[in-house]
Amino acid sequence: MTNLRTDYCGELRTADIDRTVSVCGWVDRRREHGEHLAFIDLRDHTGVIQCVVDEKHDLRSEYVVRITGSVRPRLEGTVNTSLATGEIEVGDCEVEVLSVSEPPPFPLHDRVDVDENIRLRYRYVDLRRAKMQRGLRLRAKVNRAVRLAMDRQGFVEIETPMLVASTPEGARDFVVPSRLNPGSFYALPQSPQLFKQLCMVGGVDRYYQIARCLRDEDLRADRQFEFMQLDAEMSFVGQDEVFACIGEAVKDAVEAATGERPGPIATMTWLDAQERYGSDKPDVRFGMELTELTDAFAHTESKVFTVPCIKGINLEGGADSLGRNAIDELTDKCKRWGAKGLAWFRVRAGGNGAVALEGALTKFMSDAEQAAVVDRLGCADGDLALIIADTRRTANHVLGLLRLELGRPPVNEGGLNFLWITEFPLFEALDEAGSPIPAHHPFTMPHPDDVHLLDEGGNALLDVRSLAYDLVLNGWELGSGSVRIHRGDIQSRVFGLLGIGPEEAEAKFGFLLDAFRYGAPPHAGFAVGLDRLVALLAGEENIREVIAFPKTQSGGDPLTNAPSPIDDRHLEELGLRVLPPAT
Ligand code: AMO
Repeated sequence: MTNLRTDYCGELRTADIDRTVSVCGWVDRRREHGEHLAFIDLRDHTGVIQCVVDEKHDLRSEYVVRITGSVRPRLEGTVNTSLATGEIEVGDCEVEVLSVSEPPPFPLHDRVDVDENIRLRYRYVDLRRAKMQRGLRLRAKVNRAVRLAMDRQGFVEIETPMLVASTPEGARDFVVPSRLNPGSFYALPQSPQLFKQLCMVGGVDRYYQIARCLRDEDLRADRQFEFMQLDAEMSFVGQDEVFACIGEAVKDAVEAATGERPGPIATMTWLDAQERYGSDKPDVRFGMELTELTDAFAHTESKVFTVPCIKGINLEGGADSLGRNAIDELTDKCKRWGAKGLAWFRVRAGGNGAVALEGALTKFMSDAEQAAVVDRLGCADGDLALIIADTRRTANHVLGLLRLELGRPPVNEGGLNFLWITEFPLFEALDEAGSPIPAHHPFTMPHPDDVHLLDEGGNALLDVRSLAYDLVLNGWELGSGSVRIHRGDIQSRVFGLLGIGPEEAEAKFGFLLDAFRYGAPPHAGFAVGLDRLVALLAGEENIREVIAFPKTQSGGDPLTNAPSPIDDRHLEELGLRVLPPAT
């Protein structure tokens, strides 16, 4: 078959007037026009073009047609300035129906809100929508840009296997039964982490991959079972070189997507992020930073304020914009987030021009304490001062969430604010047995200045920083990585602290430890979550919007009906038996 079309629908312009063109696509809308004519908006991925066709062609929504005709100006008064092709139309049309369509399961116009299950059940129809086409194409641009950037910087693209032994990212594995070894299973990779480190031992020097990762974890707006990473690893470098190379790739991606190149990416330590924003992924598109008040209450006589930490935020104009019910709801939220309560004060101007706090708790505060709150939070008439008195961890955490609740701009506003967060703690917490729980994976290098704390054990371990870092974009964790441990002695110590004995270490990661015995270069790496990057570039809150065939929130695919049972013969071949669901 020869090419059916001469032009794309959305690309015709006044310069094409008098040309005879053939356009192909789907019938988007149809309007009657006089006695025997109809206006057909014909759609392909580039947009729509109005075609004037004879009524005898009974063209319905989503019919696939080829229209041949001549381009002409629209009649005066029918020009549509909001449409790129709005000044022209195709007239004297010959129509060829290439295939018919049942009435579509939902209207395809972007403004219509359709249940997501139905959209996913008919994803092939959903994908025809302009917004979905934009998302797919944006994603392809980002992939291309990062691939070129990594290639330019000397990274080698290497594919790592999908059928692997378990990987240490801390989520549940998806497993695949082995037919040839009944009772044995492959895991699908949670990331290429161990293989990319083996590539470094293998002398690759700079590895990258646009890698599919699989994790059986609870799904959320920013999480799918399968997702894509720009995954990279480098030898003989530290954190700064990783930031430079990944920064370059990410900036290229943004430039390809938006036409604008982001400026330098700032760095903030994890501790600063916690103290200033109450989060390890601060959204720095807006201020409302957490303010230290603890020392201002050093001489308090009130029980409420006799706590390890007092901090606050100021909501400008909040005294008037938030009523009592709204404040009570905020207080309930703070309690759910772990605080004992929320101390709140409306700020009002007094007779002397100075502002003062008004609220139930002022009776427990001295004049000096009240003045310190006003001064440090920078309160003005009409503001609302919000204070949490608790442990430092809880005060930061709860105020961080409160700040987002009250101040966070919508996803597509406020530009793109990238930030590197460095010096993550090596351990997240201690378990009941007093063993530390790793914050990243167990191959993360401790911060050289804190290695001595490893010997102290106990709570001192929680102060051990690591050489792990994240890239944050508008309050989302976009990616993460670390300088790795490449020396057996440090690795054994970290395993020992994590309660992973030599046998367990050997069983789980023996191949990596073996490899490290044969000359491992110092190395460091990173992985960027591409679904999240594309979603933020598209101004979407949910990564499903930029994935061609995602799973629903409950992990199903309404289109193919996955997951689904397999038949008994197949089970037998795999040496498997399915138990009835537990009651
Ligand atoms: P990590 O587990 O932090 O690190 O993952 C890196 C990035 O991948 C994205 N991501 C996800 N995106 C969508 N759905 C998910 N379920 C999901 N899980 C993670 C996030 C995240 O920041 N091997 C290490 C990297 C390294 O150390 O080099 C790793 O995988 O954007």
